[in-house]
Amino acid sequence: MNTPPVCNYEGSDYQTSFWEKGGRAYEDAVEEKALQRLLPASGKLMLELGAGAGRNTSRYKNYEKIVLLDYSRTQLEQARARLGDCERYVYVAADVYHLPFVSGLFDGATMIRTLHHMADARLALQQVADVLQSKAVFILEFANKHNLKAIVRYVLHQQSWNPNSPEPVEFAALNFDFHPQTVSSWLKSLGFLVEQTLTVSHFRMAFMKKLIPLKMLVWMDSMAQLTSDWWQLTPSVFLRNRLRTEKENAAAGTFFRCPKCGAALNDTPPLLKCSCGQSYPVQDGIYDFRLEK
Ligand SMILES: C[S@@+](CC[C@H](N)C(=O)[O-])C[C@H]1O[C@@H](n2cnc3c(N)ncnc32)[C@H](O)[C@@H]1O
Repeated sequence: MNTPPVCNYEGSDYQTSFWEKGGRAYEDAVEEKALQRLLPASGKLMLELGAGAGRNTSRYKNYEKIVLLDYSRTQLEQARARLGDCERYVYVAADVYHLPFVSGLFDGATMIRTLHHMADARLALQQVADVLQSKAVFILEFANKHNLKAIVRYVLHQQSWNPNSPEPVEFAALNFDFHPQTVSSWLKSLGFLVEQTLTVSHFRMAFMKKLIPLKMLVWMDSMAQLTSDWWQLTPSVFLRNRLRTEKENAAAGTFFRCPKCGAALNDTPPLLKCSCGQSYPVQDGIYDFRLEK
């Protein structure tokens, strides 16, 4: 399968420079609020797509086991340093477009701040649907092109792209904003029911973050999230989706599959060998299923 390029975070200090030293305490806290509202009360196996350095992973408390998937090995190394090595976490370097799991495996998944790197977002969502069980919950965050700032800028002729049009906009290389109706229509066509929508980061403005104490701003955003069914004008939108497609769960004892040929793989670290000739190393607790691009 010929798939779009990956936005490469190898060697990036994203977690430190963007989150810890980048003045993003407000964004982090309101995302936590949204996740608290959307996550189910319990779950067995969660797939975190584009997990990065594991900023959100400890928030998935109600899941028994979590697979952190990211294309960047160094992001996963940071996640592993933060979360540690235990039965509950599985670290997997792989491409969202070539998921190394058998069909119908997970009863939960999240994709936070990752769809915006997908040049073929519908194809990426299709891969996610395949590895989910029937009735699984999928929490998706996406960057919203139809946000208030973009609308005002467009009206004032300060921005060339139209925030009302359905197609994604690539505002920087491999960085996309999406129209909420387009994302909903993709999800629907892939068998998902959008159960709940939350608008997040209503007050993502430097002057507000400076003037209003963090706790107050987070509370205001938490209240504003309750208006989500009426309008979606924030830069970030969270959706809780449920897969309605009827299908068989993955057979007991199966987990990985070859991202190249699709055959089920035996979990035999330090090397998983496929009958097609491809093999996948496991090094320092990280499975590596990345194929040559
Ligand atoms: C902006 S970071 C978000 C990390 C984390 N979800 C968070 O919110 O802190 C996006 C992550 O997506 C990963 N990523 C981008 N394209 C990917 C792909 N095609 N397959 C797997 N991971 C990908 C990057 O390596 C990066 O760690």
